Amino acid sequence: MTGREPVKYNHKGKDIMTETVRIMSHSPAETIAIGCGLGKLLQPGDILCLAGGLGAGKTCLARGVAMGLGADEARVSSPTFVLAQEYRGRIPMYHLDLYRLRSAEEVEDAGLDEYIGLDGVAVIEWPDVYGPLLNMDRLTVDIATTAAFERELILAARGDRYIRILEEMRPC
Ligand SMILES: Nc1ncnc2c1ncn2[C@@H]1O[C@H](COP(=O)(O)OP(=O)(O)O)[C@@H](O)[C@H]1O
Ligand SMILES: [Mg+2]
Repeated sequence: MTGREPVKYNHKGKDIMTETVRIMSHSPAETIAIGCGLGKLLQPGDILCLAGGLGAGKTCLARGVAMGLGADEARVSSPTFVLAQEYRGRIPMYHLDLYRLRSAEEVEDAGLDEYIGLDGVAVIEWPDVYGPLLNMDRLTVDIATTAAFERELILAARGDRYIRILEEMRPC
């Protein structure tokens, strides 16, 4: 179902490369290690979308990303009541949670779009509500619960830069 072969598709006259990698996690610690491996490679302006249902492990993965960025991962929690939280590491991590928002307009009214493509990494939980992301190069991790402590992570890269991250990524 997934593989390391890049796939090319055309969007509005532009060739776009995509690649998908499937990783199984067997514990929260493993999910954190995967996030950490990604965090080490992320650069200012990067976009990381975290999809999957409640309790899938999006915030757990975000904690690992913070660790990989050199931020205090213990501070990372579900930003459910705060729409955006900032963590300071090698570069800033902006942790956004769109769960409570219903439309791209609401995202923009809350000013959350301004965190995307800034001087840090935007880590976005519940990204589907913000349609403009679909046209942006990004890395999306879709997490599914397959057993009590087991998660299937589908990492989908859109654009050369994120394909490189997938190819270079090693769990911490
Ligand atoms: N392999 C795993 N990876 C991530 N979380 C796991 C795993 N196994 C069990 N869990 C548990 O699932 C829950 C994930 O919570 P959280 O990261 O807040 O999810 P989300 O942000 O997707 O709602 C935590 O209670 C965590 O301990
Ligand atoms: Mg969460």
